[in-house]
Amino acid sequence: MAYDIDRIRAGFPALQRDLDGQPIVFFDNPAGTQVPRSVVERMKEAMFYKNANLGGSFGTSVAAEQLVAEAHCAGELFVNAPHSGEVFFGQSMTTLTFGMSRTICADFAPGDEIILTRMDHDANVAPWLMAAEDRGLVVRWLDFSEESFEFDLGDLRRLVTDRTRLIAFGYASNVTGTINDVAGAAQIARECGAQLFVDAVQYAPHGLIDVAALGCDYLVCSAYKFFGPHYGMLWGRRDRLQALRAYKVRAVSDELPGRFTTGTTNREQLAGVHAAIDYLAELGANYGRPAGPDLRSRLAAGYEAMKAYEDGLTQRLIEGLLTMPGVRVLGITDPANLSRRVSTVSFVADGISAPEIASALSREGIQLWDGHNYALEIYRKLGLLEAGGGVRIGPVHYNTTQEVDRTLERLEQVIRS
Ligand SMILES: Cc1ncc(COP(=O)(O)O)c(C=O)c1O
Repeated sequence: MAYDIDRIRAGFPALQRDLDGQPIVFFDNPAGTQVPRSVVERMKEAMFYKNANLGGSFGTSVAAEQLVAEAHCAGELFVNAPHSGEVFFGQSMTTLTFGMSRTICADFAPGDEIILTRMDHDANVAPWLMAAEDRGLVVRWLDFSEESFEFDLGDLRRLVTDRTRLIAFGYASNVTGTINDVAGAAQIARECGAQLFVDAVQYAPHGLIDVAALGCDYLVCSAYKFFGPHYGMLWGRRDRLQALRAYKVRAVSDELPGRFTTGTTNREQLAGVHAAIDYLAELGANYGRPAGPDLRSRLAAGYEAMKAYEDGLTQRLIEGLLTMPGVRVLGITDPANLSRRVSTVSFVADGISAPEIASALSREGIQLWDGHNYALEIYRKLGLLEAGGGVRIGPVHYNTTQEVDRTLERLEQVIRS
């Protein structure tokens, strides 16, 4: 079936809202997407009918147990985990990363080295910086080019030494939108015996994750960025996870993923994450190229359909921004290179601050973010941190060309005035 934007939008109650008669435009998606009815229904069902602790012989407990097992299985398929037990969930990507950074760095010795990047969200920077402080590790920084907004993996190769233990690397930037070469970084990590920890939070709403093909060691993402509830998900290579010391209560077995699942997990969130994954697969079944019946094939088809649609919005948006006086897009702009970026587009404009632009548009129901978006290193490097950062427009598969045009039109008026 052809991509049916009206039908897709009809599944999201939030997208029906208006402000003073004008439809609200949701371009704040990189900070959190809206949620389809199907996801909320499954969360409701979990709370109404599957609300018991695990391990009982009675019906509600059995149903809850099944819900949890199925959500883990969906999470494993979502990232293409080679083994079961490799995925577990937690409050957020940030919380999971703080926890895992403690565990992963526990046996690093003073003088060991870690590599962080200047393009990552602080959630994949600060936990490692603090671990480095605790353990006396040396921190090295991978920089990106201000012209191409990409890394040169030759630089990464030059940074590694025989003391490198870990590289923390972002899959897609929440500011520039650049999709980074995770497989290339994984290859370098493997060659020097380091571990690669990947933040896929901004990639997950736009592209199919395949940890088996990437060759990384850990990968984290967050379901509220891909149309689900606020819950984080971590995949780790089985041998890596098994070798780590898990901080857990004594009665919990050493099996995966239980050894990393502290306390009672949030069942309704698990139901919601599973439903969000099903939603993406449903897009594939409805609008993608003919795919096999299995979840992974439908997911692949869904992401392909979304990317083709989103690229149209991205190109229109970037072309419009580039015609405006004094506007500088902070990311890849060449239409021939859309495969190297997601649809998140940030920019600054001469003579008007990012907060002024965002608040002018928000008064008309056009929701977008200004500021540093927690990508402190990007804005510091570009010399824009003190000035209030940039403006970020983040279309996803449910946004429309009309929304892009309305936003551009209003932006032009604000910038010219
Ligand atoms: C790239 C990136 N990483 C990490 C995070 C943090 O995710 P969470 O809110 O799940 O901790 C965000 C949130 O915006 C993000 O954009």
